[in-house]
Parts: sequence; C-alpha cells; structure tokens
Amino acid sequence: MNVEFYERIWMWAAVGLLVIFLGTIVLTAASDAIHPPSHMETVDPATLGNNPEFSNPKVTVRSDGSVVVSIVAQMFSFAPDPIEVPANRPVTFRLTSADVMHGFEVVGTNANAMAIPGYVSQFTITFSKPGEYIIGCNEYCGLLHHNMVGKLIVKEESR
Ligand code: CUA
Repeated sequence: MNVEFYERIWMWAAVGLLVIFLGTIVLTAASDAIHPPSHMETVDPATLGNNPEFSNPKVTVRSDGSVVVSIVAQMFSFAPDPIEVPANRPVTFRLTSADVMHGFEVVGTNANAMAIPGYVSQFTITFSKPGEYIIGCNEYCGLLHHNMVGKLIVKEESR
C-alpha cells in the first residue's frame, strides 16, 4: 500500500499524541496516586438516618491509631463540619450523599472524591501539614452549590 509522505507524517503525529496522552494518565496515576473511585459499597440514601455509621457521621479512631471519618454530603453542607484529624496519621474518608451528587475536595491536597447517593466513596490520605483547609464541593449540585464549603482542621499531635 502506498501512503503519501505527508499522510505518513500526520499518521505518526496522531499516534504520538495518543502515546503522550495515555502516558500522562499512567504516569500521574503512578506518581500522584490518582485512582478511580474506590470499592463498590452501597448504602441506601433514603435510610441514612437509621444507618449505624452515617446517621451520626463523625471522626473515629481505630485501635491501631488510624482515623476514619464518615461524612454525609447534603445540599448544601457537609456533616460533620468542621472535621478535625491528626497530622501524620493515615485518615480514611468514607463519604456518601443524602440527596444528589456532590464533590468533596480538600483544597490544596490530593483528597478529592465524589459523594454519590447510594454509594460509599472511600480513600485514605495522610496530611503532613497541620492547619486549616477548605473543603469544597466541586460538582454542581443546586442553586447554593457555591456556598457548599466545609472546614478540615489538621492538628499537630503532641507527643
Ligand atoms: Cu454540593 Cu455542589
């Protein structure tokens, strides 16, 4: 088959772009821990009020010292708020939504997940810098979406 010289250049340019794009995804997934939403765990959004974990969303400390934060996102706030966690310890966030899809992003960190009604999104992260962080909803969820902010306090532990 005879392919014109210029045609050949464009074909290889297109292949090159694909390699760059896919490479970027693979590279960032490996280096920045960007990963698809967690395991498949469901929860009934209509009965969150009776759910042992999500009826009273809060920060709990496991016996091994790791921290679990259960969060319910709901128009237009996060519960609990503020969230207080220790620095330099793995913190597992478990979030769900009581109504529509919300976002949960701790601004300036790698913590970012969707709160989807019916599902539990889970991720674990360690905050090394103590301080106050803004939690923002980054999925449009209604008229007051822009007001849906929370606060995360990362506390230095005294030893
Ligand atoms: Cu919740 Cu936007």
